[in-house]
Amino acid sequence: MKILVTGGAGFIGSAVVRYIINNTKDFVVNVDKLTYAGNLESLKSIEHSERYAFVQADICDANEMTRIFAEHRPDAIMHLAAESHVDRSITGSASFIETNIIGTYVLLETSRKYWSALDENHKQAFRFHHISTDEVYGDLPHPDEVPADTELPLFHENTAYAPSSPYSSSKASSDHLVRAWRRTYGLPTVITNCSNNYGPYHFPEKLIPLIILNALEGKPLPVYGNGEQIRDWLFVDDHAKALYKVVTESSVGETYNIGGHNERKNIDVVKTICLILDEIIEEKPNNINSFAQLITYVDDRPGHDRRYAIDASKIKNELGWLPQETFESGIKKTVSWYINNREWWQRVIDGSYARERLGLIK
Ligand SMILES: NC(=O)c1ccc[n+]([C@@H]2O[C@H](COP(=O)([O-])OP(=O)(O)OC[C@H]3O[C@@H](n4cnc5c(N)ncnc54)[C@H](O)[C@@H]3O)[C@@H](O)[C@H]2O)c1
Repeated sequence: MKILVTGGAGFIGSAVVRYIINNTKDFVVNVDKLTYAGNLESLKSIEHSERYAFVQADICDANEMTRIFAEHRPDAIMHLAAESHVDRSITGSASFIETNIIGTYVLLETSRKYWSALDENHKQAFRFHHISTDEVYGDLPHPDEVPADTELPLFHENTAYAPSSPYSSSKASSDHLVRAWRRTYGLPTVITNCSNNYGPYHFPEKLIPLIILNALEGKPLPVYGNGEQIRDWLFVDDHAKALYKVVTESSVGETYNIGGHNERKNIDVVKTICLILDEIIEEKPNNINSFAQLITYVDDRPGHDRRYAIDASKIKNELGWLPQETFESGIKKTVSWYINNREWWQRVIDGSYARERLGLIK
């Protein structure tokens, strides 16, 4: 198979590309604009594979997408390219509307025209896999808000959409477009909605890498509000495996929720990272005894969702997928990865990963 992956230089996209190149015989064409979140250094281990090609392009550019489809003739699309950081969507929503909604529309139209001209066999086998988030469902009741013996609800594939942020509403819009292109034009689509990912190569603006790197540098560990918000955490390589299963095995028109069965309060995630670092790092910065001393509560994010939790039984029952990492095993691997891969994140923090590709420094 030749799979066109959009956003393959991002956090999850790069895990998907590494997974496909290292574990299958398939070809990958990585189409990425290389925004601040795109980092080709996350793909160094596979960049010389004969089954890998990179094209720097914007998914909103219809002419360029048409040219790329004509040149590479993909059997499937895995669409991950997006603006993905909720905080950035609050301070500047335009690029979220542009990439997440218009970009998805351009890809759907490019795919539809390309797919319509395929022969019957290729037409049936073709897949447009849209990678989305559980944040499209809004938030769920928090244990604080319901009587102690109440069973807490989970997000199911048929939960009504109720997004809260510019990010999640732009992703919800793109999900609706994908459904419409399936229903109206018969484009063979499949959608996955996943919980919070964590793991190696995660851009250090997101909670887990931010906490690890701030701790290593002895800086404050910012926690929004009271830190009681609950998220379900999935190790990124488990997500990559699930996505490959879906694009290769799922029936047309399906939607799958993907989750880690790991609900944790944000404050507990931060404290767990501090405990792991306390054990590993003997010489702690700034004369502290424990990294937890660096925890600093900051003003809550506007519209902050209180709880997300996924029912991932459909993908388990239909495709046999279950995450392999527990939160305990995955977070230890993640902390160790950041300790052992200082060069990768220092080049992100000092900006050299992006400046070099712009030709600003050698
Ligand atoms: N990170 C999570 O926890 C999570 C959870 C569920 C779903 N998702 C979804 O998974 C996908 C990937 O998330 P991520 O965390 O890897 O994001 P990311 O921000 O790390 O990476 C996004 C990638 O898309 C590229 N990109 C952005 N705009 C583009 C454009 N106009 N044209 C081409 N490329 C463009 C960027 O350069 C970057 O490489 C997103 O669609 C996101 O909504 C993420």
